[in-house]
Amino acid sequence: MAVEGIDPARVPRHIAAVMDGNGRWAERRGLKRTEGHAAGEEALLDATNGCLDLGVEWFTVYAFSTENWKRPTDEVRYLMGFNESLLLRRRDELHEKNVRMRFIGRRGWRVPKRVLRRMDESLELTQHNTGMTLTIAFDYGGRAELVDAVRAIVEEGVPADKITEKTIARHLYDPDMPDPDLMIRTSGEQRISNYLLWQLAYSELTFPDVLWPDFRREHLFDAVREYQERQRRFGGVERSS
Ligand code: IPE
Ligand code: IPE
Ligand code: MG
Repeated sequence: MAVEGIDPARVPRHIAAVMDGNGRWAERRGLKRTEGHAAGEEALLDATNGCLDLGVEWFTVYAFSTENWKRPTDEVRYLMGFNESLLLRRRDELHEKNVRMRFIGRRGWRVPKRVLRRMDESLELTQHNTGMTLTIAFDYGGRAELVDAVRAIVEEGVPADKITEKTIARHLYDPDMPDPDLMIRTSGEQRISNYLLWQLAYSELTFPDVLWPDFRREHLFDAVREYQERQRRFGGVERSS
């Protein structure tokens, strides 16, 4: 689908989003923080549809970090149940849209088994879809991912002088995932918060001043327009034609 002001030939192949600001959205309305998380579901679906409109191949969202375990027990419990029910309620719809679902993260002992089960089922249901890959980062931390990669490399007995950047990339949670071209963090916070540390090395970063539950595909299109105005150099020099 053509979107005004966006060059279809230069749409980012991979967009990564930090879905931040749910708590503040709720607090501003005198609601419980958990209601902000619930309101974020619509934003996630609309942003995913926006990616489909544009022909983005990979969309990766940060749903729960390895640091989010520090939150109050009821909020953590709510987020576990909410993510489980979101998968149950939305996976058929995503499957119909030809979206392939994947998950990155530690799958640590604190993640309830039923949440892991819903993830595995969603992964299996959508594994052959070819439209777009929606990756949900859950119990995910960039440092934990690198630690896990190093452990796997050591376990395989790879000699030190054979370890290259490719070796590390191949041992990340999803070796197929290309690096994000564009990272969008909502809520005005300008930090990475342990998201995709390896993969974001040369991504363009945008920080729209909107809280996640209010995020809609128009905000995504704005971020893509901003991205298309940037000049990516990857450490090289600007080429004049
Ligand atoms: C992001 O919203 C969702 C998760 C971290 C799970 P927050 O809950 O961090 O919302 P704020 O930052 O407190 O507003
Ligand atoms: C990052 O947001 C994690 C997710 C959106 C899931 P946080 O709200 O947890 O990050 P900080 O604490 O503001 O850095
Ligand atoms: Mg936050």
